[in-house]
Amino acid sequence: MCQTQGNVEKKKVLSCIQPSGMLTLGNYLGALKNWLNMQEEFDCTYAVADLHAITVRQEPAKLRAQINSTFALMLALGLDPEKSTLFIQSQVPEHAQLAWILSCYTQFGEMSRMTQFKDKSAKHSDNINVGLFAYPALMAADILLYKPDFVPVGADQKQHLEIARDIAIRFNHIYGDVFTVPDAYIPKTGARVMSLQDPSKKMSKSDENVNSWVAILDSKDDIIRKFKRAVTDSLGTVRYSEEQLGISNLIGIYSAVTGNSIEEIEKEFDGKGYGDFKLAVGEAVADELAPIKQRYDEIIADKGELERLYREGAVKAEKIARKTCFKAMKKVGFVL
Ligand code: TRP
Repeated sequence: MCQTQGNVEKKKVLSCIQPSGMLTLGNYLGALKNWLNMQEEFDCTYAVADLHAITVRQEPAKLRAQINSTFALMLALGLDPEKSTLFIQSQVPEHAQLAWILSCYTQFGEMSRMTQFKDKSAKHSDNINVGLFAYPALMAADILLYKPDFVPVGADQKQHLEIARDIAIRFNHIYGDVFTVPDAYIPKTGARVMSLQDPSKKMSKSDENVNSWVAILDSKDDIIRKFKRAVTDSLGTVRYSEEQLGISNLIGIYSAVTGNSIEEIEKEFDGKGYGDFKLAVGEAVADELAPIKQRYDEIIADKGELERLYREGAVKAEKIARKTCFKAMKKVGFVL
């Protein structure tokens, strides 16, 4: 018997991104570029996590625009609705439904240990809501509904993936084999992109200094200007080191964009100054992002097509999500 390629089941991947604000070069190199890289090898499910976004107060019109924009950006990157399942979380009600069930299998004590909750409640001390606290149960539902083998997550989400695994193991222990326990996916390439103005901090769109971060949709001129102004160190040579955070951040970005190794980059810029290097990084980043921005502008202009694609994605996602959710409900003892 001969088994064709098409019959070999691909491993499943799931990830989500929050639609809270402009997506940055950090989101691109740290997450989205890898989503695209995984698209061929894996059966991928990617969602806009809008239910997560309301754990901090959002302005409705702005949130709506951001959800549309994030979904459009996923398409502009090259994520293909024919190959992957792309949808908006709130359009698949099973996420909220399973999250409730899972929250009843999560202990107050273990939730209280989540470092992101501690950080966020310090930052939003006027709005420490129960949703912010229960957020990891919703994230666990996002994951477990689709039975992924792998979940690509950055360092800041590792603890949440860990609790999702613990919840799945606990539920399975009581009721039998309901959920797949997924592994973290650590991409081969990718960069932790730091602020261009203070390289000891992660690049963040909430930074008041707009020169500290690059948006995926920034113009070429803006991108180059921001890189020209990037903070570097006193040594003046293009060398990667733990002490030279500014230049090392730029080398990391250049490496992630060009695919060249650190050694190759150091050799390429041997004897050259920071000015030349910053311009080269700015141009490489701008050239990589330009076609994405161009496609984005086309996609966001056609709201009808955008809506058709996210509705279709939600139907496709719900087919899978419904099965898992029903199974969990049945096991718990609900009358279906
Ligand atoms: N909490 C994640 C973040 O802020 C986003 C997210 C929501 C997610 N659900 C997920 C990531 C499921 C991976 C899997 O980045």
